Amino acid sequence: MFFNKKKNAIVNNDLKHIAFIMDGNGRWAKSRGLPRKAGHKQGAKALENIGKICSEYGINTVTVYAFSTENWSRPKNEVDAIIDLLRSYIKDAKKRKEVRYKFIGDKSVLPKDLIVEINELEEITKNFDNVLNIAFNYGGRAEIVYACNELIKEGKTVITEEDISSHIYTSHSKDPDLIVRTAGEYRLSNFLLWQCAYSEFYFTDVYWPNFDRKELEKAIESFNNRKRRYGGLIKGEE
Ligand code: FPP
Repeated sequence: MFFNKKKNAIVNNDLKHIAFIMDGNGRWAKSRGLPRKAGHKQGAKALENIGKICSEYGINTVTVYAFSTENWSRPKNEVDAIIDLLRSYIKDAKKRKEVRYKFIGDKSVLPKDLIVEINELEEITKNFDNVLNIAFNYGGRAEIVYACNELIKEGKTVITEEDISSHIYTSHSKDPDLIVRTAGEYRLSNFLLWQCAYSEFYFTDVYWPNFDRKELEKAIESFNNRKRRYGGLIKGEE
C-alpha cells in the first residue's frame, strides 16, 4: 500500500484493475431538464477524468461499460447520440494517445467507418502500458459463447478455465479487482460475468456524470478495507 500525498488518497497496490458500470447518465440529464444525450456527453467527460486519475494512482487497467448488447432497444435518437459520442471520443483519443485502447464486444455490427476508426485507435495506442477497455456492444454471456466457439474452431473438445480466460475479449487484461456501479442499482447487467469471479463490488447512488475524484477515493478506500480470501483463509486468521 502507498500513500499518495499529493492527492491525499491511499491506493492499495493490489488495486490494478477497476471496472465501471457507468449508470445514471439519463437521470443526471433529467434532473437538469436536459435531453438524455446530454447526460451521455457529460458521462464521456467523467470517463476521461476518471481514466486520468486512475492512471495517476497506479491503477493500470480500467474497463468501462459504454454500450451493452441490450442497449440497441433504446430509442434510435439515443442510440445514434451514443454512437456519435463514441466517434468524437475516438477522434479526441487519437490526439491524446496516452493509454492503450481496447474495444471489447462485437464490433462487426457497428457502422463500417466506426470500425475503421476503432481499429486505427487500437493500433496506434497498442504500445502503451495502461489499458482502457471500452465495452461497446458488449454482453458477458455473448463473450463466453464467443470464447467457446473460438475454442471449437481450434479443434478443442475439452476446455479448461484457462482456455476460456485466454479467449474472452479481455484476455490481454487481468480480471478486475474492483467493479464499481453508480446510480443506485445493485446488479451486473451482463457485465464481465466470467471475469468477476473474485472481484470486489462497490455500489454508490451517485450518478456517473457526478462521479469524480472524491467519489473514486471513496471506492478505493472501501476496496482497501476488504479482505480478499479467494475462497481460502488469510494468514493469521486460521
Ligand atoms: C447508462 O446510463 C449509460 C449508458 C447506457 C451509456 C454510457 C455511455 C457513456 C458514459 C458515454 C459514452 C462513452 C463513450 C466512450 C462513447 P443510463 O442511460 O441507463 O442512465 P439512467 O439509468 O439514469 O437512465
